[in-house]
Amino acid sequence: VASKGTGKEKLTALLEKTETKALSAIADTKSSATLDELKREYLGKKSVLKQVNESLKDLATEERPEVGRAISSYREKIAAAIAEKEEKLQKSGGEPSDIVDLTLPPRNQPRGHYHLITQVERELVDIFVGLGYQVAEGPEVDTDWYNFEALNFPPGHPARDMQDTLYVNRGNGTDAVLRTHTSPVQVRTMEKQKPPVYVVVPGRVFRQETLDARHSPVFHQLEGLAVDESITMGDMFGTIKTFLSAFFGRDVRTRFLPSFFPFTEPSAEFAASCVFCDGVGCNVCSKTGWIEVGGCGMVDPNVFLAVGYDPEVVSGFAFGFGLERMAMLRHGIGTIASFYQNDVRVLQQF
Ligand code: PHE
Repeated sequence: VASKGTGKEKLTALLEKTETKALSAIADTKSSATLDELKREYLGKKSVLKQVNESLKDLATEERPEVGRAISSYREKIAAAIAEKEEKLQKSGGEPSDIVDLTLPPRNQPRGHYHLITQVERELVDIFVGLGYQVAEGPEVDTDWYNFEALNFPPGHPARDMQDTLYVNRGNGTDAVLRTHTSPVQVRTMEKQKPPVYVVVPGRVFRQETLDARHSPVFHQLEGLAVDESITMGDMFGTIKTFLSAFFGRDVRTRFLPSFFPFTEPSAEFAASCVFCDGVGCNVCSKTGWIEVGGCGMVDPNVFLAVGYDPEVVSGFAFGFGLERMAMLRHGIGTIASFYQNDVRVLQQF
């Protein structure tokens, strides 16, 4: 820098130029790491400052004081700018690095997910949508007509005792019930549309039941209803085997035992061969080789009459089962209450 004959003008001009550059670089800095680099570059051993300092001795004696003052002013200004910036960076909380890789996933982002019952419900609905079904829903508080009468349970009929109903006093002399099953949505759907009908109905249902390992006063069901010309029991058997196999992820065998529901005739309880022992008998299936899933049957002509369908023209099948039970079976969950206690240590396993 201090080539021969270098006068004070040259040195002060150099300092001024460097100062301007330094101040703008300091102002632009966004991290303390780069600020440290600038400190070294503009105040350090290899800085212009250092070189000018060393050139002082080559100057004429009368020129030295002025350059000396320029040197101190440079040093003070740069040091002050750096200190100010340091404080700012600290206040803004942390050190955003200059090298941010935007393609990296964020660290440790806690994320929720659907409750197992919702997952199971969506999976089953998906299976049925794949078979051409639509989704229908209905109210959780319904009338006696939809929950019972239109489904062929007349008032006082002993079959009502199968379902321990919670009645709601609406204060206007008409009874409402917390629906005991999703079957009222069969009626609501058929009232609204002409056949053919292919729907599944997921939903929450309520029974006057004491909580134990496998029963809860609030639980969820999936209902299915297919109505068309010439639907047979064969269609029902095939549909149930298909969705059970899809849900359990393997080819299951099915068993149908005669049963009774007022709204189906004939009626059956359906079961799948145990997916844990393949029918041999184990703890999950209580050594029977079968897991009971739900109820089903051919739609009773009286239900068709209640919704204005002609039982001479159409036929159909319906089925219904509990979602909690399906989830418990597939995931080896022992107590139904686990679904409602919202203990994340349980929920996050699924
Ligand atoms: N609704 C019946 C129940 O909750 C199940 C069922 C649905 C049976 C459809 C036959 C047909 O017990």
